[in-house]
Amino acid sequence: MGLKSFAGPGVFLSVGIYLLKSWANGPMCTSDARLDGKVVVITGANTGIGKATALDLVKRGAKVYLACRSLERGTAAADDIKKLTQAGDDRVLVRELNLGSLASVRSFAEKFKSEEPKVHILVNNAGTMMNPLESTEDGFEMQIGVNHLGHFLLTLLMIDRLKAAAPSRVVVVSSNAHRDAETLGLDQMHFSHYSEENFSSWRNYGRSKLYNILFAKELARRLEGTDVTTYSLHPGVIATELPRHMIQNAYLDAIVRVLFWPFTKSVVHGAQTSIYAAVEPALASESGKFYRDTAEATPNFKMLEDVEEDSRNLWETSVQNVKLTVDEFEEIDGTML
Ligand SMILES: NC(=O)c1ccc[n+]([C@@H]2O[C@H](COP(=O)([O-])OP(=O)(O)OC[C@H]3O[C@@H](n4cnc5c(N)ncnc54)[C@H](OP(=O)(O)O)[C@@H]3O)[C@@H](O)[C@H]2O)c1
Repeated sequence: MGLKSFAGPGVFLSVGIYLLKSWANGPMCTSDARLDGKVVVITGANTGIGKATALDLVKRGAKVYLACRSLERGTAAADDIKKLTQAGDDRVLVRELNLGSLASVRSFAEKFKSEEPKVHILVNNAGTMMNPLESTEDGFEMQIGVNHLGHFLLTLLMIDRLKAAAPSRVVVVSSNAHRDAETLGLDQMHFSHYSEENFSSWRNYGRSKLYNILFAKELARRLEGTDVTTYSLHPGVIATELPRHMIQNAYLDAIVRVLFWPFTKSVVHGAQTSIYAAVEPALASESGKFYRDTAEATPNFKMLEDVEEDSRNLWETSVQNVKLTVDEFEEIDGTML
């Protein structure tokens, strides 16, 4: 058999894989909105879609704070972004933020607020998935603590800066995995609730992502009339470091990545719905909605009885769990609490 007999099927296969990958990548954000003079905070911006979002927003002229739990990894990402954009140290900044520690969230907010009177876009992007049963510093199950409670407190502490910058936006990166939450489970945020027998890591990841959507919705309701708008989203299935707790063998990881490559988004494509929610002018009058592939989508709330009431209850339980101080209460503006 000569080479020629392989050429036909080879071309066919390559075109097929190319078409599949293009379909998996999904649409790009087509807005050319500029962000000159605007201040942005992105959590978990040292890798994955957070870094790709940061790169895009820096290209649009924004001053972007990369809020990362490792200053070393954050600085490496900032260096990459500066090289690619020619932006200076005054436009790409790294600050320490560990969302698994409410003390770290408070200290990030305090430092940020001593530097900036306004924040125009807050992207709650950081996330952790399929963790083994482990506790945050404050005694919450890790995924609930990092993905929801840490971001909940961060957003509340940023409210005065968001209001000062209005029109401003809060973007919450959720996931289609919210469908697998099973129940609202407001009494199951604490680590002490769990044993190896009753713990399902996937369910808790799904629940944390359900909370992300309900939080964005309830926040929108409480911010009505302020010109601070909120958006939650599913970014797609993207080949990032997110499955780090699922596959720890480097060879297996490489094989899975190659096999799934045609079916997953690139990080640039995975960042598009976050970018869309952050900059698209047509969304300025929208708030509290859910997006997928740069378009509005319908979340799956099959596990909820009353979405509005459940969102309010989530808010109230979260306020109790993050234990706001008297000063924080006053700073945030008691009317929205
Ligand atoms: N990838 C997907 O297919 C997919 C699908 C649906 C939704 N999402 C969502 O998209 C978001 C971004 O994920 P990704 O895919 O870009 O994942 P990734 O590559 O793993 O990036 C996650 C980021 O979150 C940070 N992070 C984790 N725990 C943290 C903590 N305790 N405090 C502060 N930062 C923390 C990580 O920091 P380190 O580097 O220091 O660990 C990293 O910067 C997540 O919210 C995820 O749930 C992703």
